[in-house]
Amino acid sequence: MTRNDVIRKIVKPVVFVACLGPLAWVAWTAYSSGFGPSGPLGANPIEYINRYLGDWAIRFLLAALAITPVRGITGWNAIMQFRRMIGVYAFFYVCLHMSSYIGLDQFFDWAEIWKDITKRTYITVGIANFFLLAPLAATSTQGMIKRLGAKRWVKLHKLVYPAGILACIHFYMMRKGVQLEPIIYAAICAVLLGYRLAKHLQKKAAAT
Ligand code: HEM
Repeated sequence: MTRNDVIRKIVKPVVFVACLGPLAWVAWTAYSSGFGPSGPLGANPIEYINRYLGDWAIRFLLAALAITPVRGITGWNAIMQFRRMIGVYAFFYVCLHMSSYIGLDQFFDWAEIWKDITKRTYITVGIANFFLLAPLAATSTQGMIKRLGAKRWVKLHKLVYPAGILACIHFYMMRKGVQLEPIIYAAICAVLLGYRLAKHLQKKAAAT
């Protein structure tokens, strides 16, 4: 087996299954504790699940944004083979996070959900981010890359940069007041986007 075969046939499936770990943990814990208020998910299990899924959504999003800088700094090219999978998982956890809000938190009360979207800015930002990420997930297949053409596909997928910023704004606004956790995520996002900006400026300077 070549190195590429090992990545494709062994490492990728292992990473794929590992990415389902956070979902499996929360689903199993919720199921086995019967959603009880004295269980491991705390006094408000629905809030816990929603926040937990939001945390994993932003983690996967930042992980996807980290892959190019990691390759650039370490020269580890094989890591690029995981970028699409991690990006799609980010959208998967965003969908679960949004579904838990719609189904568990609001019980599909669409009037209440619409009120929330229009009145609570962090939810407006969250939903805007969902619509920003949706076309990226929809065009993540090999067939769509071919259909769009590599140049247009790369251009479209630059939307992941504002999506990272919106995710951090959503998190910061949701927590209210100055809190360390959203600031740490925003700092990581700033470093990851700053790396790209620096590379871009370097390229531009070299070209002139
Ligand atoms: C890229 C998209 C999104 C990301 C990365 C994201 C991430 C997050 C994060 C990290 C939190 C805070 C969790 C914590 O306190 O530990 C959060 C909270 C929340 N998000 Fe999102 N979110 C996104 C989209 C959405 C959407 C589309 C909705 C609903 C329409 C939504 C609704 C909420 C709600 C209601 C909370 C607060 C829950 C509470 O008050 O307990 N989010 N989100």
